[in-house]
Amino acid sequence: MISRTNANSFRKNLELYAERVNTHLKAIIDAQYKSGAPQELIKAMQYAVLGPGKRIRPVLTYASAELLSLKAEQVDSIAAAVELVHTYSLIHDDLPAMDDDDLRRGRLTTHREFNEATAILTGDALQAIAFEVLYSDHFLRKDNAAQIETIGWLAKVSGPKGMVGGQLLDIEAEKGVTDEEGIANIHNLKTGQLIRAAIMMPSELSQITKEAKTKLDEFASLIGLVFQIIDDLLETQQDTAVLGKSSKSDMKKNKATYPSVLGADKSYDRVHKLYDNSMKALDFFGKDANTLRCVADYIINRSH
Ligand code: IPE
Ligand code: IPE
Ligand code: MG
Ligand code: MG
Repeated sequence: MISRTNANSFRKNLELYAERVNTHLKAIIDAQYKSGAPQELIKAMQYAVLGPGKRIRPVLTYASAELLSLKAEQVDSIAAAVELVHTYSLIHDDLPAMDDDDLRRGRLTTHREFNEATAILTGDALQAIAFEVLYSDHFLRKDNAAQIETIGWLAKVSGPKGMVGGQLLDIEAEKGVTDEEGIANIHNLKTGQLIRAAIMMPSELSQITKEAKTKLDEFASLIGLVFQIIDDLLETQQDTAVLGKSSKSDMKKNKATYPSVLGADKSYDRVHKLYDNSMKALDFFGKDANTLRCVADYIINRSH
């Protein structure tokens, strides 16, 4: 456990990591201007990416790098690439053909601020840029094997056996009743896998043992599911103004969520059990995992 005084200084670290990835993301988008890409596309990318997201996935990447004794600069590109894929997934998630939402990060969704075609293409562009960022990063280029592995992680968790597959199942589940196992699978795919990759990609740059990798992966998988259950619960409990996105979206779309299937109390039971198990997995690392513990703490106690 982290003492309260220490918790404050760890929390400060999380803010610094969020600022760090923001700087990096801004540089990535700015570089697009020099590349000659269409202005409207760049404007939409800027709007979507540089909006006030929490940056939880990049912060997890930096916290994981800390645990692995890597320097932050070694994982800057990984942190940015994960956030780019996440932002692309949000833009597409909000489209009329999907969750049909008007509000994201406290502002109009990208298709409402621009138009649908631009929003679709902006998501596509961000996904491609994420991989280009990993391809061109000079730290990763020093270790080709690690570079290939990190690219492989992001490709796998973004695709049909990850985020995109989960999104399809999420839409399908609007039509019928889903049991707990089904919903855990959807959450794990649509949200959990990318969070898992945010934590695991840095391990490809380190000399981590097999046992340590298994423990880290256990934590990563559990906290990814916790994240989405909390997201479901917050949507039923918070105002739209606090969430920065609609608090009625899941209800309106008859989404399969933890609270809709299990009710709030049982959903919290599941969160606490998963969280406790995730903490047990981190015991293996002692105090080296304190920043990751602090992010996990933030994930379950967040207001939006
Ligand atoms: C929202 O993710 C979408 C989910 C996967 C639940 P976040 O809550 O991390 O959204 P931002 O990035 O802070 O806007
Ligand atoms: C978002 O899930 C998951 C992805 C974007 C991949 P939700 O649809 O439940 O999240 P919100 O509520 O729109 O942020
Ligand atoms: Mg959705
Ligand atoms: Mg949605």
